[in-house]
Amino acid sequence: MDYLIFAIIAYLIGSTPSALIIGKTFYQIDIREHGSGNLGGTNTFRVLGIKAGIIVSLMDIIKGVIPVLLAISFAPSTHPLIIGIFAVIGHTYPIFAKFKGGKAVATSGGVILAVNPFVFFIALAAFFLFLKLFKYVSLASILTAITAVISSIAFQEVGLTIITVLLASFVIYRHTDNIKRIKNKTEPKITWL
Ligand code: G3P
Repeated sequence: MDYLIFAIIAYLIGSTPSALIIGKTFYQIDIREHGSGNLGGTNTFRVLGIKAGIIVSLMDIIKGVIPVLLAISFAPSTHPLIIGIFAVIGHTYPIFAKFKGGKAVATSGGVILAVNPFVFFIALAAFFLFLKLFKYVSLASILTAITAVISSIAFQEVGLTIITVLLASFVIYRHTDNIKRIKNKTEPKITWL
């Protein structure tokens, strides 16, 4: 029963469309109609600027952290990382935004942060390194997801490794269009790093 209740709570928290809320409330802009149309930190940054981008990215990370911490505190019979997966599903297919959400990167990061901050910060550092090297946020996101898997293996955390493999596979799947654009050389590069 705990699994059902906490999975629903996680899904609803994950479904909160941070990018949509910040865009509509403070800028009167629906970011789904601009840039890549993605409801995530990257597109918010692209359309609304650095302040909104950072706020949305942090909100999306927190959407992953909270359900895992709730499960750890109040549902010891559940595996918190499995509960965390439902937050990522909510972020990606949000019930509050017609099931069209983000690409699972920040909220997956939040899930990992809640159980192993070391893996999270290694992945975060890797993200900026890959961004500096390749200038594609999408490619940096994919390589960061793979870095999280390698870090989880290095920390010998079996449960976390299984979940990071699942999350990384999902992140790569969600970047299918970006991968096609990188191949076609139509994916926008960042210019600020
Ligand atoms: O985290 C999402 C990012 O990797 C790509 O976003 O808007 O460029 O498709 P976007």
